[in-house]
Amino acid sequence: MAVIVIVGAQWGDEGKGKIVDVLTEKADGVARYQGGHNAGHTVVIKNEKFVLHIIPSGILHKGKTCIIGNGVVVDPAFLIEEIDELKKRGIEVGENLFLSKNAHLIMPYHTAIEREQERLKGSKKIGTTGRGIGPAYVDKIARTGLRVGDLLYPEVFREKLKINLSSVNNLLKALYNAGGFDLENVYKEYMGYADRLSGHIADTDVIINKMIDENKNMVLEGAQGTLLDVDHGTYPYVTSSSASAGGACTGLGVGPTKITKVIGVVKAYTTRVGEGPFPTEIKDSLGEKIREKGGEYGATTGRPRRCGWLDMVALKYSIRVNGFTGLVITKLDILDGLEKIRMCTSYKCDGILHEEFPKELSVLERCEPVYEEVAGWKENTSGIKNFEKLPGAAWEYIRKIESMLNTKIQIISSGQKRDELIMLHEPF
Ligand code: GDP
Ligand code: IMO
Ligand code: MG
Repeated sequence: MAVIVIVGAQWGDEGKGKIVDVLTEKADGVARYQGGHNAGHTVVIKNEKFVLHIIPSGILHKGKTCIIGNGVVVDPAFLIEEIDELKKRGIEVGENLFLSKNAHLIMPYHTAIEREQERLKGSKKIGTTGRGIGPAYVDKIARTGLRVGDLLYPEVFREKLKINLSSVNNLLKALYNAGGFDLENVYKEYMGYADRLSGHIADTDVIINKMIDENKNMVLEGAQGTLLDVDHGTYPYVTSSSASAGGACTGLGVGPTKITKVIGVVKAYTTRVGEGPFPTEIKDSLGEKIREKGGEYGATTGRPRRCGWLDMVALKYSIRVNGFTGLVITKLDILDGLEKIRMCTSYKCDGILHEEFPKELSVLERCEPVYEEVAGWKENTSGIKNFEKLPGAAWEYIRKIESMLNTKIQIISSGQKRDELIMLHEPF
């Protein structure tokens, strides 16, 4: 039996979707623990591409229990669209999908508030995905949120919505001079969603813990990445949830004693989408080259991702706060053909060398990376499935990452497709 948490080790888009899909083959169930449809998880099967946003990436395997946990924030209209789209493409989405009663709902006013907040911040904006994620988590923590379970009790839902709208509409008008929302319209809209989703709504903590007690193999899927985590990330340029490993426990109602492995997904270089510090960002044409070759455009918003070198300072920090038992390196193939590859081993700020990831934004923003250069390789590694076929320099790069981070590399991913990987140590 194994309960494996999959966590993004950087700023998201590390290739978690592909890895969750691959691991789910040997699992009985898969569960998403935080975030919402800000996430975009890509899975490529043969030549068909799927992008999952709220539904766990393991759904593409038949017969697996799929759970959307209490830690997720759910836009019901978007979820219904995602279900319909998958069904249209022949994927089974029925009794295999469970949605936690305690997951919070994203309401239309969350998106409206976020839009206004980002607009007012001007150049200091976070560069969010604009999907109402932050304001939905604000309501959750403020204890004013509407939850998925409320959809099953129309009168309760209506009463809570009425109270919320009375303050939200005032706030929108007074602070932003923006229009408000009509109670009956929003109520009717959400009751329509309740009709569609009621069959999926469940006590997901009961389901997942029963599976664990029955010694089933489980994959717990994180969204975003550790450096976007609301506690451990580059605050305030973060998302509003616990993307790191701890979020799997709170976001699913699974005790820490039940987790058997925590695997960090690391891209062979670094990307970031949205604003915020990024010490190893490559600002010249090489950054653009990597972006084009790696297809580094947001799977959710289509925005170009900022690209940079691998950052060992950030990764050591990520390993510490997650307690990774192993790592997966993705997109190694994108580095093919580079003469030299840089690895950031420390930062310099005001003449001071930093080996630990600085907590203060004002310091991190001014940090210059200190690089160690390693040899690149000319050969094509795309689609390689056997480590003996890896060029020597590529293998050296992998071994160096492993020894510098003192954490075992379990899988090397060499392409978008399911089978394009080198399995060094099977996680299950
Ligand atoms: P996620 O958010 O962590 O699931 O990652 P995304 O799906 O947003 O972005 C990762 C992108 O890289 C997707 O387009 C994947 O299909 C792709 N990808 C994943 N692993 C590899 C790999 O090893 N090589 C290449 N070339 N592409 C990969
Ligand atoms: P996956 O799961 C990369 C970023 C946004 C923004 C910040 C806050 O695909 O790795 P939000 O809308 O969450 O309030 O935006 O977080 N962001 C992501 N970046 N991958 C993601 O998800 C992201 N989800 C949010 O760009 O900088
Ligand atoms: Mg993504």
